[in-house]
Amino acid sequence: MRTFILYSRKGVTEEWKGDAIDAGRMDVVSDCIRSAFLLSHDLRDDVVFYVCLNGPPNPPKCLKVNKNDVEIDAVKMNNKLKKLIKNAEKKSFQELIRELKGDFFVLNEKGEIGIPQSENPIFVLGDNIGLPKNEEKFVERFKAKKLGLGKKHYFAKDAITIVNFLCDQK
Ligand SMILES: C[S@@+](CC[C@H](N)C(=O)[O-])C[C@H]1O[C@@H](n2cnc3c(N)ncnc32)[C@H](O)[C@@H]1O
Repeated sequence: MRTFILYSRKGVTEEWKGDAIDAGRMDVVSDCIRSAFLLSHDLRDDVVFYVCLNGPPNPPKCLKVNKNDVEIDAVKMNNKLKKLIKNAEKKSFQELIRELKGDFFVLNEKGEIGIPQSENPIFVLGDNIGLPKNEEKFVERFKAKKLGLGKKHYFAKDAITIVNFLCDQK
């Protein structure tokens, strides 16, 4: 199983009204979910996605997203996410890391480029602002490796696509 964890610094922790951009960049979260699962004419079966939400009104919360929650259309995915928020659990990023079993890879441009060698990789990414240093250090305690995708700075959604490509080469 391939797991992605997106750390969202400002993503809201309750159903929102209006634009996802104004809801702590929930558009970024929505795009990342679609990148994690979607192929041109198919959905990946072997992916689980978590987002850790740290925005108002009741942080921190973690939402687990499965294949069945995913919408192909971007607008529909945004709207679905509004509803899915109700399923988010009161849980911090660190609690989630403690709970999951697998090999951790922190996405960081200073990391080593390569194909992740693991049957159960868990990829940790930051949102548009990036992963807070203290959270990155916390994951490192769990023998996390730093995975780099080169010196260019990618959107989180594109970093996820590249990681999926790399894992597909294994
Ligand atoms: C838009 S970037 C974050 C930008 C933020 N200003 C920063 O400095 O982290 C979103 C996330 O994608 C991942 N990412 C983007 N480019 C990468 C690269 N070249 N190598 C590894 N990870 C990358 C990182 O996890 C990053 O936190």
